[in-house]
Amino acid sequence: MKYKEIISKMTREEKASLMSGKDFWQTMDIERLGIPSIFLADGPHGIRKQAEAADHLGLNESIPATCFPTAATVANSWNEELAMQMGTYLGKEAVEQKVNVLLGPGINMKRSPLSGRNFEYFSEDPYLAGKLAAGMIKGIQSYGISACVKHFAVNNQEERRMSIDTIVDERTLREMYLTAFEMAVKEGETKAVMSAYNKLNGEYTNENMDLMKQILRDDWNYDGVVVTDWGGSNERVAGLIAGNELEMPTTAGETNQDIVTAIESGEIKEDVLDQCVDRLLDLVFTTEKAFKQKPKTVDKKEHHQMAQRVAEESIILLKNEANILPLQQDKTVAVIGDFARETRYQGAGSSIVNPTFLDHPLDLLEETELNSIGYEQGFDRYGKRSTRKINKACALAEQADVVLLYMGLDEVTEAEGLDRQSMDIPANQIELLDALYEVNPNIVVVLSCGAAVEMPWMTKVKGLVHAYLSGQAGAKAVQRIITGAVNPSGKLAETYPLRYEDTPASHQFPGKEVSVEYREGPYIGYRYYDTADVNVLFPFGYGLSYTSFGYSDIKVSEEGVTFNITNTGEVAGKEVAQLYVRCQSKAIFRPDKELKGFIKVDLNAGETKTVTLLFDDKTFRYFNVKTNQWEIESADYKIMIGAASDDIRLEDVIFIEGTEAPLPYDKDKLPSYYSGKVNDVSIEEFETLLGHKVPDPKWDRNKPLGYNDTIAQCQYAKGLFARFAFKLIKLSHKFLWKIGKRDTANLIMMSVYHMPFRGYARMTGGVINMPMVDGVLMIVNGHFFKGMRHVLRERKKLVKLNKDKGEFGTSKTGEGEVL
Ligand code: BGC
Repeated sequence: MKYKEIISKMTREEKASLMSGKDFWQTMDIERLGIPSIFLADGPHGIRKQAEAADHLGLNESIPATCFPTAATVANSWNEELAMQMGTYLGKEAVEQKVNVLLGPGINMKRSPLSGRNFEYFSEDPYLAGKLAAGMIKGIQSYGISACVKHFAVNNQEERRMSIDTIVDERTLREMYLTAFEMAVKEGETKAVMSAYNKLNGEYTNENMDLMKQILRDDWNYDGVVVTDWGGSNERVAGLIAGNELEMPTTAGETNQDIVTAIESGEIKEDVLDQCVDRLLDLVFTTEKAFKQKPKTVDKKEHHQMAQRVAEESIILLKNEANILPLQQDKTVAVIGDFARETRYQGAGSSIVNPTFLDHPLDLLEETELNSIGYEQGFDRYGKRSTRKINKACALAEQADVVLLYMGLDEVTEAEGLDRQSMDIPANQIELLDALYEVNPNIVVVLSCGAAVEMPWMTKVKGLVHAYLSGQAGAKAVQRIITGAVNPSGKLAETYPLRYEDTPASHQFPGKEVSVEYREGPYIGYRYYDTADVNVLFPFGYGLSYTSFGYSDIKVSEEGVTFNITNTGEVAGKEVAQLYVRCQSKAIFRPDKELKGFIKVDLNAGETKTVTLLFDDKTFRYFNVKTNQWEIESADYKIMIGAASDDIRLEDVIFIEGTEAPLPYDKDKLPSYYSGKVNDVSIEEFETLLGHKVPDPKWDRNKPLGYNDTIAQCQYAKGLFARFAFKLIKLSHKFLWKIGKRDTANLIMMSVYHMPFRGYARMTGGVINMPMVDGVLMIVNGHFFKGMRHVLRERKKLVKLNKDKGEFGTSKTGEGEVL
């Protein structure tokens, strides 16, 4: 242990006190030993340090910071170096704001396009996500502070995120859902990892020994800190045993006491605690050093420009019929759409950043030399169809050469804690588009949303610029692309299916009650569409440029692949070349192709560059469930270089000597997995893949409700009061939604409806404790008076205890924080 000496001076209580927060954002300090508190703050694309009232839902304002494009956007840059640079900017701002641990990046896979936090995650591909995350982490940590990669692991739906049990087979888990984390740990050398809220195959991730001990610590040699997601601690001692150093936020000492009691009773050895304290102290002392150097002053303008640069490399040109873009200066433009007036630039929830500046498209028109003849709103992002607005927009459109239409999803639809209900763009926007098309078919759409949407309206637009959620300077970046000041170079980091029903997990998303079954196995995103031969709207890796690129001279060796790229067009541009690998053997089922490398190359018109992509430990490996380790199959492998996953330009074959492991599967029993047609796998076949039965996915409606059940389950509770409360909450949600208070309605869903009962003790900073939750459960389970008495008695005890201790709700950043 590194901090043996200081640990030997600590009492057991002091050691345990370090294992949970001091308040909502800080760790505990021990003054007499010179151990300071450290500050943890969101988030992935900008600092969200709350100086006043604290919450984890993006409700209360934070200190202004640069709002960079969200991860879903940055991923489209396919530029590891850029992600690293963005990380350094984040790191610098974090140091200036005295943040020790930045809670990001988020790298969960995009299993379904409807998952509510897709905007915060990079990709449907683990290799791409892993590389970008590693770059960003290195950048953040270059300032001496810590990144905190999240949410470990398989947190791929928001519905019931704090209690859902993810059922996934071991190979899929390793190959698809853990690889990006492995890269963040091994290549990015992250100093902190955040465990996910959900369960993984029956156990909360934070307590899951396979995940936390065997994989994270033993296989990956991780010696950093694991912090729970906020309120995500279930059994504190089980978490500690699995190596969870820090529970957040504070529980006002309640769970520290659980640790002390467990040691006193002999349930765990003191050494378990000491090891965790040692690792936490390392995080504390190493990150504190970052503040000892000369204070960092952030040049806000320069950071704004960096946000613009990231956006410019990440925005994607998806359609450019008859080269409508870039817009020629002599073309007059009618600017239309609510999103031109008020830009949509980030998602909602804990990642929300209070930007230092904010560009809106309308305010920039002159600066970017667009030949605008006027603006019409056309639709209201939260409203219904407005014939008046449509007519006014059409009248303007008629007079212009080109219609520039800003469309997208609103701020409430893409939010943490809630999955989207569909892949649609709101109907009032499409109705406007239809009407505009009738009067002027030269339409360029600028789309702002953080995840895949359906586009049945695509035929009506000539140009489509996908801005994603491009941060505080995104509006300028878009306009520079439209005018040709910047040549677009973003490519999709996720597939755009034609229809939601085409997606591989559509029958199994979201898990509604107890569990969610990942029956599609490793076939998510392009891995599915390519293998099962399903047509898509835009494939993974797709994106246009104002120039064109030629590929030639492929040479494959055991070390890697070398080839030439030439800019065959008239203007300078950047091309993302992608390396895909296909195993030619059919003995083990595999996706048709998998991304194993990529590079972004900057080329002047006419220029050729020779590039090499080296193979690495991930190029040929697969996880063998029989040997329980990574293996390589002896086989021919097709090496493909593409401009997109469906646009392979060069290929060659190489034989690779494998590890000769026994074959893991009985082919006849897994027909769907061998064919890749996995969107409707039977339970029997899935159980064969899993190697065991799946748990009953339905709630047991006869069982009394417990700590990990939620208000949503009160619908069948024994207690009349609970059933009434359930109805009331449902009704309030409906009512609030109807009257336009959508944020509040969402909040009710997220922090009341789907919150497990234990969450009330974990998230109220000591205002409610577990014995009080016991009382609440008595009420819920039909013992109203007994439960009430219990709650009041326990509350009284708690107040007295806190009075004796001279403290109540130890939070500095506001007592009784928002759930
Ligand atoms: C989110 C995390 C976030 C934390 C603190 C949680 O609700 O899932 O991503 O870092 O809150 O705000």
